[in-house]
Amino acid sequence: MITVAGATFLLTTAQTSYAFAVDPAGYLRHLHWGGRIDRVGDFEAPARWDLSTNDMLADITPQEYPVHGRFRYAEQCLALRFADGMRELRVEVTGHRVDDDELVVSLADAQRAIAIDLHYLVHEQWDLIERWAVVRNDGAEPVVLESVFSAQFRVPYEDLTFRNVQGMWAAEQHAFTQPVSYGKIVIEARRGISTHHHNPYVVLGRHATETTGEVWFGVLRHSGNFKGIVEQSQYGGTSFQLGVNDYDFELRLPPGGQFATPAVVAGYSGAGLGAMSHRLHAFGRSLMAPGIRDVLYNSWEATGFDVTADNQITLARRAKDMGVELFVVDDGWFGRRGQDSDGLGDWWVNRDKFPDGLAPMIEAVRDLGLRFGIWVEPEMVNPNADLYRDHPNWIHREPDREPDLARQQFVLDLSRPDVQDFVVGTLDQLLSEYDIDYVKWDANRPMSQVGADRDVWVRHVDALYDVVRRIKAKHPGVLIEACASGGGRVDLGALTVFDDFWPSDNTDARDRLDIQRGYSYVYPAKAMRAWVTDSPNFLTQRAVPLRFRFHVAMMGTLGIGADLTKLSDDELGQAAKLVAKYCEIRATVQDGDFHRLDDPSANDYRLLEYSAPDQAVVFAFLPASLLGRRGTQVRLRGLDPDATYRFYAEWRHQERSGRYLMAHGFPLWLQGDYASDVIVFDRVTA
Ligand code: GLA
Repeated sequence: MITVAGATFLLTTAQTSYAFAVDPAGYLRHLHWGGRIDRVGDFEAPARWDLSTNDMLADITPQEYPVHGRFRYAEQCLALRFADGMRELRVEVTGHRVDDDELVVSLADAQRAIAIDLHYLVHEQWDLIERWAVVRNDGAEPVVLESVFSAQFRVPYEDLTFRNVQGMWAAEQHAFTQPVSYGKIVIEARRGISTHHHNPYVVLGRHATETTGEVWFGVLRHSGNFKGIVEQSQYGGTSFQLGVNDYDFELRLPPGGQFATPAVVAGYSGAGLGAMSHRLHAFGRSLMAPGIRDVLYNSWEATGFDVTADNQITLARRAKDMGVELFVVDDGWFGRRGQDSDGLGDWWVNRDKFPDGLAPMIEAVRDLGLRFGIWVEPEMVNPNADLYRDHPNWIHREPDREPDLARQQFVLDLSRPDVQDFVVGTLDQLLSEYDIDYVKWDANRPMSQVGADRDVWVRHVDALYDVVRRIKAKHPGVLIEACASGGGRVDLGALTVFDDFWPSDNTDARDRLDIQRGYSYVYPAKAMRAWVTDSPNFLTQRAVPLRFRFHVAMMGTLGIGADLTKLSDDELGQAAKLVAKYCEIRATVQDGDFHRLDDPSANDYRLLEYSAPDQAVVFAFLPASLLGRRGTQVRLRGLDPDATYRFYAEWRHQERSGRYLMAHGFPLWLQGDYASDVIVFDRVTA
């Protein structure tokens, strides 16, 4: 709900409120972000004065969208340059409008024709708000934006805890926390993708655990260079900005031109990190195509670049026997692609590998009753490809310099309309010619050497979203997975146009426990592809039992990536049973609430739960037994306290009330390394 009283604005969701007002000095002053307060009359923004000749109002006032100029020294949201070199902004609120769930507050510079619209979208049902800004040049001369963030947020406390993830290729999404103190914490991406290194969000906690304490969070809907700045103020409180990175950035606004920042989805939880995740997961799922996701098979780890019609059909037959529903052929099917140095960009079928085209293979897969998917990497090109020979100027490059290769490839400059049309045309042709349900869209290197146009970082990402939307408009039923050497493009911007994520090239089940945990803070299980692959794992050389590998992968949308020709009949049988088990619980896993239950101090148990109205599922892992025979007590969350649940534990079926299972729990005991179990709690209907 949006309430406006005079110059005070109050946004309320089911459990939270967000308030700000125009104060006597003309600043749009932030007033409240926290628990729900319904009475707008409780809020006021009394006059304040400079604290000293060195501590001025512009710095002291917590503003909704601070701009560069005057005595503003703290971080700001907007800095720009007018054509005559003038750089100071003096904005005031000029009006507002409310349109259903959206509030737009307009600011403008009285002397210079710059207008800023601050957008606030209230997602009442998810306890979230969404903020972005639109900067418009109403003048007759161009203006250059030097820095333009989506929003500033403020928490009225100090000594908070900052959370994000850190990592690298094949080790993404490792959650970390660090204290917020004086000075700043900066988190960013500079590679044109949201990267494997950090993720575009800020989470601030105050005494926060999974179920208690306060959490304030903002998640950016952008897949490119981002920056989050957390600043604890000497004047009390902590602010953060989130938005497009101002690193190597400039954006020219012609007369009449405007720039809309990506949005930040933000919220407050008074009940710890779990409630934050539930809200963000529900929001994330709302962006996705509805329906339960298929069990997938992907041939990458089995056949690498050596795909042929025969070896794919052999794999598809075995996959079908295991209960797989969607068969995906990965890299290697196109151009003169025998290795990573060749053929990228030449999206015609490799006739050495598929003499009769893809059709016979796709028909064979379909005859098995499977859906079919295929890998592409449309933003890239190898120098050894016809596409590059024909269009050497289509890549990001600095004039007069040899561009650098990574994985033997260059990045196409997707901000060019001819490149966009090429990508849309290529995918349109592929999807029109063949019966394809699923596309894995990869991007295996970062952008670099982008040349003189410093807005290209943003324009590449906008163009990416645009081409994916154009392809989907022509082929609405096709689901598209976002992959960037694994998890380089896991972000809410990507989830807005793509359908799910490949979170990591690391498919080692033990490593995945941590990767998937980090991922789970913000992103929904339904968007997380997870495969069971061979043991020992190709990357870590770690041997892990099949059951444990399955149980880990069953916590997302299950996929199989093992070389099925190497599995024994016994293993295939075991795998088929585990796929069937997944199908029984996948509605709960994909659409339920996710709970991080564990207290790993008790013998390294990893305990995770999904709860839905009729079922809850507990996943229990003991990667390494550290304390002999020590078991643990598992208390569930998210059950109906008055309902009865039936489950199998301690070698017998049991029935208990939801209240009992949440307040007391049940004893769990796993034995040995890589022990795991999945315990299903079915609601008993009267
Ligand atoms: C990337 C992806 C992998 C696989 C290969 C193919 O590394 O992350 O899953 O598709 O490319 O070359």
